[in-house]
Amino acid sequence: MGDVTKLEIPARRYSGFAQTMHWLIALTIFCMFTLGLLFDDFPKGAKTWWVNIHVTTGLVLFALILARLLYRARNNPPPPPAGLSDVVRKAGTASHHLMYLLMVVIPIVGIVAYVWHGRIFDYGLFQIDFHVPANRAVYPKAEDIHGYLAYILMGLVTLHVLATLWHQFIRKDGLIWRMLPGGK
Ligand code: HEM
Ligand code: HEM
Repeated sequence: MGDVTKLEIPARRYSGFAQTMHWLIALTIFCMFTLGLLFDDFPKGAKTWWVNIHVTTGLVLFALILARLLYRARNNPPPPPAGLSDVVRKAGTASHHLMYLLMVVIPIVGIVAYVWHGRIFDYGLFQIDFHVPANRAVYPKAEDIHGYLAYILMGLVTLHVLATLWHQFIRKDGLIWRMLPGGK
């Protein structure tokens, strides 16, 4: 017979991979958002440099997000904690799905904003040039939408953190340990 405990423990928590991706992506998103808010305060030369950092980090982040989603599609999350009402469970799932959706759409709109500004990805050793001329009908709108969606994502993340605090201090079910290593 197999080791039953070994089979049971992971089923009640997110896997090491899911946890690593969650925290790595969350941290990167916080940095990307903060940087995005600062763009207008940089002098023009510095701004171009920081936009480059934002876009390059953003592409790596986008790849991480897609990898996470691919993994998520093949690996079910642990079942929700017992005893949650239907409404709370559904609200949790819906907000997770909405955050995933925004994590995909925000980078795509960001890429549109960048490329339709006539910009190229320039990494010294190589460049990616889509030969798209700057298009004023597209990029200012795409930049705005990208920013608004980022605000909506951060609003959801705020609710997400409040929900975690509710679980921790009001419901006292230790939900956070599902997303932390070494949890009980
Ligand atoms: C940009 C920031 C963040 C984003 C986009 C984000 C997104 C997500 C998503 C999409 C899930 C669902 C995972 C799945 O079922 O596949 C999740 C789970 C979770 N997140 Fe976050 N998160 C962020 C930050 C945080 C922070 C700061 C905390 C802690 C206060 C936190 C605590 C949790 C917990 C405890 C779970 C597991 C919920 C459960 O067991 O059902 N997250 N997060
Ligand atoms: C989840 C990841 C991302 C977040 C949270 C984020 C957030 C932001 C924010 C808050 C702004 C400022 C918007 C404003 O002030 O209206 C911004 C601007 C921008 N972002 Fe992102 N971004 C992300 C990913 C990306 C990616 C992947 C790209 C492109 C590859 C990108 C390209 C841009 C561009 C081109 C701008 C406008 C810069 C300018 O003003 O010239 N972003 N982003």
